[in-house]
Amino acid sequence: MSANQQSKKVRVLIADDMADTRENLTKLLYFEKDIEVVGGASDGQQAIDMAKKASPDIVLLDLNMPVVDGITAAAAIRESGCGSAVIMMSVQDDVQYFRQAMLAGAREFLTKPFTGQDLIGAIRRVYEHSERPSANRVAVTPAQTVSTPIKNGRIVTVFGPKGGVGRTTIAVNLAVAMRSASGKEVALVDGNLQFGDAGVLLSLQPHKTIVDLLPHVSALDQEIFDDLLLRHDSGVRVLLAPARPEMAELITPEIFNRILTKLRESFDYIVVDTFPSFQDTMLGTLDVSDQVLVVFTGEMTAIKNVRNFVDVTRALGYPREKLMLVLNRADSAGGIKASDIEKSLGHPISEQIPSDYRLVASSLNAGVPFVSAHPKSKVAQGLIDLARRIAEVAPSEVSGSSKAGRAAQMFKIPVPFRRREVTRQVSSS
Ligand SMILES: Nc1ncnc2c1ncn2[C@@H]1O[C@H](COP(=O)(O)OP(=O)(O)OP(=O)(O)O)[C@@H](O)[C@H]1O
Ligand SMILES: [Mg+2]
Repeated sequence: MSANQQSKKVRVLIADDMADTRENLTKLLYFEKDIEVVGGASDGQQAIDMAKKASPDIVLLDLNMPVVDGITAAAAIRESGCGSAVIMMSVQDDVQYFRQAMLAGAREFLTKPFTGQDLIGAIRRVYEHSERPSANRVAVTPAQTVSTPIKNGRIVTVFGPKGGVGRTTIAVNLAVAMRSASGKEVALVDGNLQFGDAGVLLSLQPHKTIVDLLPHVSALDQEIFDDLLLRHDSGVRVLLAPARPEMAELITPEIFNRILTKLRESFDYIVVDTFPSFQDTMLGTLDVSDQVLVVFTGEMTAIKNVRNFVDVTRALGYPREKLMLVLNRADSAGGIKASDIEKSLGHPISEQIPSDYRLVASSLNAGVPFVSAHPKSKVAQGLIDLARRIAEVAPSEVSGSSKAGRAAQMFKIPVPFRRREVTRQVSSS
């Protein structure tokens, strides 16, 4: 790269009908050495004209603008062939606007108000992944040029065929305990896409969620994950569920599956929280998982559901060791004895987590996982023990090609993508 190219800046056009907003955004970008604001437009038509003329790298487009709205302007900019990439900005984080913006070619969607960090991160990310000719590209920050080896991480899914049995409590504490026990790179994915609450247990606000990955789905890599997964104090990186239930529909089973399989390349362990269902998303997740923890409590109804689930996984041909049964609130008064449950299910219980209502509830309300706040408590010891064992378990033959898509086949779901993904993993391992 020549000195000239290295000194090149990311050229940004700001289009917003509010002069104050244009001014504030310009100020936010003023001190960034690699970014230059090349102009401001006060309506959509002006934005199109200026983009065609100046061919900026990035156009920041407000969604609601006079003359021509942001979505129409984004489509016109894309069709003009000027090569500018659009970042849409809006006070409305409505799923329909998001979808329309993406269809019009926007590469990111920033909901106002956003921070300077959010804005700068979005500009750099979009620029780095834009389709401009490579001669025109600059290394935006030195950190982004550092390449790290591709991993082949393991997906540990915390499932439970009945609601309210403690999946999220276990998934969150397990991820933190695995990070602390192994020191490896651990990601936690909230796969309860409509009503995910993992962020609450970790005191994380949904500033960034799985929805922010959508514009990058075809180019997911370590850099994108590094930008868009939240950082928890424990070192666990967290991919939260969409901030609002209706946004869950944007995450199709194909997309969720792709995100999980790409996360393998950047993390040693990917812990996935789930919801009780045999919908496509969950079936795909179970298929691609290396380990499935089946969480349940010692009540007849929960045990009945686990038996059905174990039978289904046998029929699917999952290796026996892929399932780990976890009996939560194992010592609850009136609960059925673990040994009787094992006999009835014909499958060993891998871990028994005791009941500790006060500790678990106070940890939830404080947003601090109990494995960090009270590591000596019995309930935390159960989770830490489980984490150590999972970190040691040899990778099972999970998504072997012969078994690939079996859950989907059984439930008659056409998922050609899933087989493709699995084949790719197998051939790369
Ligand atoms: N070992 C435990 N001891 C006492 N209370 C527990 C224990 N595990 C979970 N709980 C409590 O049980 C309730 C349900 O837990 P959690 O939200 O983790 O379950 P879930 O299976 O994820 O539920 P959902 O179906 O809503 O996703 C919470 O109030 C939690 O604090
Ligand atoms: Mg839950």
